[in-house]
Amino acid sequence: MHDLTPRQIVQQLDKYVIGQADAKRAVAVAIRNRWRRRQLTGEMAQEVYPKNIIMSGPTGVGKTEIARRLARLADAPFVKVEASKFTEVGYHGRDVESMIRDLLDQAIAMVRIEQAELVAGKAKASATDRLVDLLLPGSAPTDTPATVSDGYVSPEQSQERKAHVRDKLREQLEAGSLDEREVELNVTNKPQASVMFANMGIDQMDPQMSSMLERMIPEQHNRRRVSVAQARRILIEQETEKLLDEEKISAEAIDRTQDSGIVFLDEIDKIAVSGGASGGASGGGSPDVSRQGVQRDLLPIVEGTAVTTRYGVVRTDHILFIATGAFHSAAVSDLMPELQGRFPIRVELSALNESDFIRILTEPGNALTKQQQALLKVEGIEVDFETSGIEAIARVAAKANATLENIGARRLMTIVERVFEQINFDAPELAERGEAALTITDTFVNERVESIVADKDLSRFVL
Ligand SMILES: Nc1ncnc2c1ncn2[C@@H]1O[C@H](COP(=O)(O)OP(=O)(O)O)[C@@H](O)[C@H]1O
Ligand SMILES: [Mg+2]
Repeated sequence: MHDLTPRQIVQQLDKYVIGQADAKRAVAVAIRNRWRRRQLTGEMAQEVYPKNIIMSGPTGVGKTEIARRLARLADAPFVKVEASKFTEVGYHGRDVESMIRDLLDQAIAMVRIEQAELVAGKAKASATDRLVDLLLPGSAPTDTPATVSDGYVSPEQSQERKAHVRDKLREQLEAGSLDEREVELNVTNKPQASVMFANMGIDQMDPQMSSMLERMIPEQHNRRRVSVAQARRILIEQETEKLLDEEKISAEAIDRTQDSGIVFLDEIDKIAVSGGASGGASGGGSPDVSRQGVQRDLLPIVEGTAVTTRYGVVRTDHILFIATGAFHSAAVSDLMPELQGRFPIRVELSALNESDFIRILTEPGNALTKQQQALLKVEGIEVDFETSGIEAIARVAAKANATLENIGARRLMTIVERVFEQINFDAPELAERGEAALTITDTFVNERVESIVADKDLSRFVL
């Protein structure tokens, strides 16, 4: 990703997201800019700040989809958070700093996987050695020779014999022919305070507090009987754990979070206060005051601050923020001016029409029609979409959006679901009866949704 050009990034996004060229260009440039900054040195590298983006546009037109695809493309830590989930510091709910901690957790996971890959060969070899020990206790080269009944065996001979048996066993293990056998081994359960307390309904805990708690809770050792195959997985994990340098992982993850982390702030309009930033007239506890408070908490993070995590301090100056919102009841200008200033790039995504729907139904690799085909193929049913059928689905979706609420491309999912409802249910029997081919025409589509579309109350309910 870091060496993809803006044009290449757009091309990648084009595979999944129809239209919305401006938004794609903006995110592509933002991503490229971070790569550019990383090539700089010294003061300049510190002085160049990311150009955060606000994508606005109606619901269901691809805002989140662009971010999701970007995340897969980006070889960078990435989190997506709903702005509306946050509450002011000190109130019940998530505080804004938690997104930086989540981002770092992502980075840690990424770096750990990379590092684990580097030591994979070593870990696997050690795991196999330990499996040999488990299957042939007393055979390790360091063990004293077992007393043998059949006469005298010199220590050298004994060593040789053991080495030979071990080699044989290793071969068999590597070939997987002993996978079904059972062995007994020790497993350790490390306590994880965050998990334990999440179960108790405590979503967030001071990072120092949780690592302190984890040290207080004793590790649990269990002896378990497992298959060789399972034992191998457990041992590889244990050996990998030993080979990994946690300090190095944390340090690298912090660097990566600071230099290339991306935070996707979904639905930022939900924390805007419509009618200007002077909200709060209604006094304490009002939702406006709280939204204002979240914005105020958000500002330092977007401007650049230090966030304490259990792995160390993360500076947020160069983290890229991409915010989105429908902005129909509040405008971008309803955000605090300081916050607006931190999002200099504004792109608008346009509403989708019937011809966009046709493309969305057919072009992306994961298009709904392709998904439906793949699922029914599992049942042995071949689904073929005629152009007329696709057009009909697009037409019905556009109509439902016009008469009901406009939910953009999300409408396509509900329509396709309607069209296939009966078939999805009957599929196994259809296949059994040999009705294994299905052609989706406009007649087919209309038959299944016409009555629904005609009845406004009904369509509100089912479409
Ligand atoms: N421009 C588009 N191209 C392809 N699919 C789209 C597009 N816009 C929306 N979709 C589809 O509709 C769904 C909802 O879109 P999403 O991006 O989540 O909407 P929003 O703009 O409200 O964030 C996505 O999962 C995607 O499948
Ligand atoms: Mg969205």
